[in-house]
Amino acid sequence: MSGPPEPVPSDRPRVWVNCAVSMDGRLAFAHGVRASLSGPEDLVRVHRLRAGSDAILVGVGTVVQDDPSLRLKPELLDELPKRPPRRVVVDASGRTPVSARILDSSAPTIVATTENNARTYPDHVHVLRAGRDQVDLRLLFRLLRDLGVAQLMVEGGSRILASVARERLFDRWTIYYAPVLVGGTTAPSMVRGPESIGPTDLVRLKLESVAPLGEGFLATLRP
Ligand SMILES: NC(=O)c1ccc[n+]([C@@H]2O[C@H](COP(=O)([O-])OP(=O)(O)OC[C@H]3O[C@@H](n4cnc5c(N)ncnc54)[C@H](OP(=O)(O)O)[C@@H]3O)[C@@H](O)[C@H]2O)c1
Repeated sequence: MSGPPEPVPSDRPRVWVNCAVSMDGRLAFAHGVRASLSGPEDLVRVHRLRAGSDAILVGVGTVVQDDPSLRLKPELLDELPKRPPRRVVVDASGRTPVSARILDSSAPTIVATTENNARTYPDHVHVLRAGRDQVDLRLLFRLLRDLGVAQLMVEGGSRILASVARERLFDRWTIYYAPVLVGGTTAPSMVRGPESIGPTDLVRLKLESVAPLGEGFLATLRP
């Protein structure tokens, strides 16, 4: 995964999706309860990826369920970047809890919402509006590019990943497969969105590499 950096598209950042799943492709436990699927080696990899990004994006479902801080952990990095990546939560109707860690003032934060959301946010939060009912991710990515975000890391959850996949808004997709099976009927799969009715709905990927990582393996895919 070395070599010169890929060019940044003119209308959006370079988008790198990253997630950790079980061998049966689940992102979490039943009803979305958080599962720590990354092993220590993957956590270091994810932190390097975060540190090399200008912004890290999650959906409000992940914020409600997991309450991630999306901060960099210095103990997992050789050195901290000059500027911490911006944290972005996609929240169409203002569901982000007031107490969510992503809204603390420890790192720059963007709430990506809609024209219809009348909620207010703390002063340090940058509010971007894209779309009316759901957040228009294509427009949001353009707004992020205009703010200087050249590299965007998308961390989930399953509905955001479905939208990014269906709209082909990514350049690289890395999946850490943990050697476990989750099973059940309510544990979210990696992409949870519109049904695929037939071949034209498939999001086709090109497998770039598969490599062992800790107890699992890492797959790198491109559109
Ligand atoms: N293993 C991993 O790597 C990993 C990483 C992250 C999350 N997760 C898991 O993923 C699960 C959360 O996933 P989730 O699907 O419930 O929530 P999500 O994908 O984090 O957020 C989805 C929500 O974002 C809002 N949204 C606004 N515009 C959207 C658009 N254009 N496309 C998609 N969503 C849009 C919608 O809520 P509103 O309409 O209210 O705005 C939607 O319900 C949790 O179980 C979490 O543990 C796992």
